[in-house]
Amino acid sequence: MTVCLVLHAILFFAVNWSVLSLLWVIFLFVCVFVFFPHSLQMPFTFVDLFSSVGAFHYGAKRQGGTCKLMCEVDPERVDVYIRNHPGKYAVANDIRTLRDLPPHDLLLAGPPCQSYSTAGKRKGTKDPRGQLGFDLLRLIKKSMPKAVVIENVLGMMSDPFFGTIIKSLDEWGYFVNVFTLNAADFGCVQSRRRVFIVGTIRFVLGAPQPFPECDRDSAIKDIMRPDHGQDWLDTKLFRIFPPSKQIEMEGSGYVLAGQVRHVNRDIPDAVFGKPSSAASYKKGMRVFHERGRLPTLTGSDAGRVYVWVARRKGVRLLSPSEVYATLGFPTTFRPHAMASKAYLHARDTVAVPVVEAVVKWLKQQRAI
Ligand SMILES: C[S@@+](CC[C@H](N)C(=O)[O-])C[C@H]1O[C@@H](n2cnc3c(N)ncnc32)[C@H](O)[C@@H]1O
Repeated sequence: MTVCLVLHAILFFAVNWSVLSLLWVIFLFVCVFVFFPHSLQMPFTFVDLFSSVGAFHYGAKRQGGTCKLMCEVDPERVDVYIRNHPGKYAVANDIRTLRDLPPHDLLLAGPPCQSYSTAGKRKGTKDPRGQLGFDLLRLIKKSMPKAVVIENVLGMMSDPFFGTIIKSLDEWGYFVNVFTLNAADFGCVQSRRRVFIVGTIRFVLGAPQPFPECDRDSAIKDIMRPDHGQDWLDTKLFRIFPPSKQIEMEGSGYVLAGQVRHVNRDIPDAVFGKPSSAASYKKGMRVFHERGRLPTLTGSDAGRVYVWVARRKGVRLLSPSEVYATLGFPTTFRPHAMASKAYLHARDTVAVPVVEAVVKWLKQQRAI
């Protein structure tokens, strides 16, 4: 588009040089900028490490990025990734055996968070999953891209490995910014706070929070699909509070509409899912009002999101696609065909609009 405009301008000037023609060309440029902003984007390349089903890929691609390599050890996630992100990129499996990366501008990585998560034992790099962070650092040092984005749970900030990452990036010549960002501030209907360590070779103006808060009005009902095929759940299994008793949770924005009525073994796992721990079982007992948002979904919660739909006076589970939509995945995304797997993959996924905002910021700072 931009090339066409420049050719158009040259021809116009050659044939008919006048102030009017100059104004005409300026007008065309403004139109392109307003209606086709993507056509003026500078292209860049990226690699996606610990890629799972590809949330980072969506965010980077929306900002004009081309993927050069994805790396994911779980073959089922690799299948979902390739199906949803067609392209000519290399596919790597275990990061521990990955020796080199193809040339790229931006390295994106969301290493496994279980060893840093407050829900886990917090063994950090003493856990084999925490050790994978050293492979990440090895690859950064070897490839030295223009920019690096490492995403994780907030618990990572209190682990010594957090300091190791910052110190290493600093030693290798990166300027480092750390942001804690909540998906709910980027139009998502799920509250999900994550830390983003952003290293850039080019100096960028540091800012405590460069990303503007946006659309905090979105609600679960906005991502619910009318063609959802699942049955509605038997309302006798739930205790729905009258509107005056529904509890609006300050800050998180979610509205508690009710609870599972019988917390006992009579309820088949097929309906409520097998609770993995007492804590997640408790969370699974909540029924959220469609006009609110969701708290962070972790563990088996992702498959047990009960939503009260007021106009139908009914409760239903969110489908896997809807759970992904709470993290800004597009409606075209096709998760794993088995619902339990699809929910499992969704639980450790970064929110797409947050990735997009970080990459956009890097572009605005001319860091990539
Ligand atoms: C926290 S998830 C990443 C989420 C992903 N970045 C996203 O936001 O959608 C961590 C991923 O690392 C993968 N993983 C674990 N061990 C790995 C290894 N040795 N090599 C490559 N990937 C690995 C897991 O299967 C999981 O999908």
